[in-house]
Amino acid sequence: MNQLSFVILSTGLETLKELRGALASNERTRLLAGGDDAEQLFPEIVRLRPNAAVITLGAEAERTLKFVERLAAECPQTAIICASRDASPDLILRSYRAGARDFLRLPVINEEFQTVIERTAEFCSTQTDAPKKRGRAVAVFSSKGGCGTSFIATNLGAAFDAPTVLVDLNLQAGDLSLFLGLEPKFSIADLVENRARIDDSLLKSYVVPHTSNLSLLAAPREADLADDIEPEHIFEVLELLRERYDYVVIDPQHTFDAITLSALDQADDVVLVLTLDIPAIRSTQRALALFDRLGYPRHKVRIVVNRWSKQIDLDLRQVERFLGERVTGYVQSDYNTAVNSINLGEPLVKSDPTSRIATEIRHIAASITGAGVESEIKEPRKGLWGAIFGRPVGAISNAGLRTRLGKDKATAAI
Ligand SMILES: Nc1ncnc2c1ncn2[C@@H]1O[C@H](COP(=O)(O)OP(=O)(O)O)[C@@H](O)[C@H]1O
Ligand SMILES: [Mg+2]
Repeated sequence: MNQLSFVILSTGLETLKELRGALASNERTRLLAGGDDAEQLFPEIVRLRPNAAVITLGAEAERTLKFVERLAAECPQTAIICASRDASPDLILRSYRAGARDFLRLPVINEEFQTVIERTAEFCSTQTDAPKKRGRAVAVFSSKGGCGTSFIATNLGAAFDAPTVLVDLNLQAGDLSLFLGLEPKFSIADLVENRARIDDSLLKSYVVPHTSNLSLLAAPREADLADDIEPEHIFEVLELLRERYDYVVIDPQHTFDAITLSALDQADDVVLVLTLDIPAIRSTQRALALFDRLGYPRHKVRIVVNRWSKQIDLDLRQVERFLGERVTGYVQSDYNTAVNSINLGEPLVKSDPTSRIATEIRHIAASITGAGVESEIKEPRKGLWGAIFGRPVGAISNAGLRTRLGKDKATAAI
């Protein structure tokens, strides 16, 4: 049979170690996440939808049982197993009443543990719930403003050939509604406020349609409406959207604040946008280093150069070596075309689909969806890549980053 996935909420490190050891010694079980912070773990459980969650009850049993109740209501397909050193009939009864399906005495007794695993497997085999839709979350990010993330996010959202929602996470000063020529009445703040009672029709009333496939969840009109929005709310909102759209394209702020990190964590893909200037290259390198520290797999991140032009005298291989990552997209610099489309409130991929910018954005979209790039786009790209990387290695200008700034300054600067 398939492995059973587990999440553990423990009362301390020792208990976590003990339970983790018990799970590790059983080849039918797999631990997805563990920790002692219930509030942090809750959204993880909702997202991961494990087969079972082991919840340990310690000194604050009453509070933890409230958590069990919440979890049982939110994730009925997850078998909740309460575990405690106090195996009094009273606590066992209260655990079952809160929604637990089983009770495990601590310290773990091997035989009992095997029985609990078997009962969990039995419960899981009865779960015939159709899996919920889970759209792909794509964050378009740059830790430096002005690189064109909103422009790329909007066009990427319009390039997906499936129901897509754009989420404006610039909660203080979002402007995606302008990019799409929309005047939203509601915003993400309304969705957050009413998230507990969201159904399809209420959600539809909070997003604004741009085309039949593309909608916008706007940023609040007044900055102070965003004051009460917490990272866990964003997590929940993105989950709700993923259940209803094939693609959720997120345009976060240019800082590593908790809300942005919550969105980046949840994203399946991070399109990391930079322009070819030293401050942007350096902040991209810092972002990549942070992503490494956060444990993001490198395949989650795609680097896209915006406002690319042949005239930029930078050795791109050197930039890639410096970043330690390949650049996967080059969006042409074309100020008039970009600004016109923004002023018209119409993404270029729709208003001027044959433009070089639109062609490249569609290529990036296709690399995310895994669809083959249409043949009409292939040729110009070949030319573009040829222009960049086709030169023989010896011919690549050594000028690169260093001479742009003066030999020693460049290395020091980045
Ligand atoms: N490929 C491009 N060529 C020329 N101008 C661009 C391009 N992409 C974006 N811009 C311009 O850059 C400016 C900043 O873009 P925006 O998307 O608002 O950046 P960000 O969201 O990263 O702060 C806009 O005026 C936009 O027209
Ligand atoms: Mg922006």
